[in-house]
Amino acid sequence: MNYLDKIIRSATVENGADRNGVPDVTALSTLYRNLSAKTIITGFVYVSENGRAMQPLQAGIVNQMQTHAWKQIRHAVPDKQLIMQLAHVGRQTTRSGAVGASNIKCTYCKAPVRALSVKEIKQIVNDFAQAALRAKETGFDGIQIHAAHGYLIHQFLSPYTNNRTDEYKDRPLLLEQVLKAVRAVCPAPFLIWIKLSWADDRGLTLADTLATVKRIETLCDGAEISYGTMEYPLNIIRGAIPIDTAFRVNPLFNKYPPLIQRLWQRFVFPRYKRRFKPFTPNYNVQAALEIKKQTSLPIFVTGGIRTKQDIDHILASGIDKVSLCRPFIKEPDLLHKLTGDWKSGCVNCNLCTIYCDSMESVRCHLGEKNEI
Ligand SMILES: Cc1cc2nc3c(=O)[nH]c(=O)nc-3n(C[C@H](O)[C@H](O)[C@H](O)COP(=O)(O)O)c2cc1C
Repeated sequence: MNYLDKIIRSATVENGADRNGVPDVTALSTLYRNLSAKTIITGFVYVSENGRAMQPLQAGIVNQMQTHAWKQIRHAVPDKQLIMQLAHVGRQTTRSGAVGASNIKCTYCKAPVRALSVKEIKQIVNDFAQAALRAKETGFDGIQIHAAHGYLIHQFLSPYTNNRTDEYKDRPLLLEQVLKAVRAVCPAPFLIWIKLSWADDRGLTLADTLATVKRIETLCDGAEISYGTMEYPLNIIRGAIPIDTAFRVNPLFNKYPPLIQRLWQRFVFPRYKRRFKPFTPNYNVQAALEIKKQTSLPIFVTGGIRTKQDIDHILASGIDKVSLCRPFIKEPDLLHKLTGDWKSGCVNCNLCTIYCDSMESVRCHLGEKNEI
């Protein structure tokens, strides 16, 4: 088995830029060089200023300085297949001026949301295309359009967040327009991948996603299958809920005084916890296989893949590539271990996830002082 072509490092927030969204060339090229995966999808990169996520150190690809830094990263990491994940945050932000398909607030981020006008949507389509073109100019091998996890394109795909009455009530239309606009400026062999949540906790179903995939299957080169939105963030990744760490480092929670934090933990947390799905290995594989059966589009899957045996099994069942995130945070060299009977040392403690919302670069915190 040639694992180099079959295992991807899935998009992983890096907090690897300065406050102007300019990526840190040394930090990111070192990170990418040290990863044993040949194919690396960057953490989500913003396509426009109003599409920035709440992480202050998120990288962008909207101006010359950012593009130049990405070009240097490409130059410093010549032997990897680099794919830039392009995202517009939509309503999933605490920043003021949040926009969305409709004006429905995200219960996790709580910022008021304004529904986008058709003119603004056309501008966003163009922003994705221009960002992809810049990514191509840096020498990256391709881009991944982030249409999962409740970000803007997912907000259009979901019946809960899209209650529009204009042409965009046709929920996959925005994704279709973005893909056409990107392809128009980035012809093959430049890769165009997408990331989709096959369902979420607010009404998006597998049937919706199958219809979306049928609609766009000729417009891109592969779809990575994930789950959920940031409204129930731990259903995207699953596992432990390190609530003490969240209260300490997450700006959404650490603004509350200690007494409120203690009361919340005591009385609200036990009920809050019940909203989350338990971690089970390979938790998106069944849905990915359903999708694979019905499309000619290459299908990749992410979510809870932790052993060599499972990787072999998933690939043997017809899935085109497997995509790992937390295992690469724990063991950047994991591909070198697949000659043996590898099992990930990641225990899904999710400390890395909580630190995504801090100012720290993302790494494994398992066993550190102050942590578990
Ligand atoms: C620390 C961390 C950062 C992540 N950042 C992103 C991201 O920037 N874009 C994205 O699409 N998914 C992101 N994800 C989700 C992962 O790409 C992946 O789909 C998910 O963690 C399930 O895979 P795993 O079980 O191998 O971790 C992130 C997950 C974690 C834990």
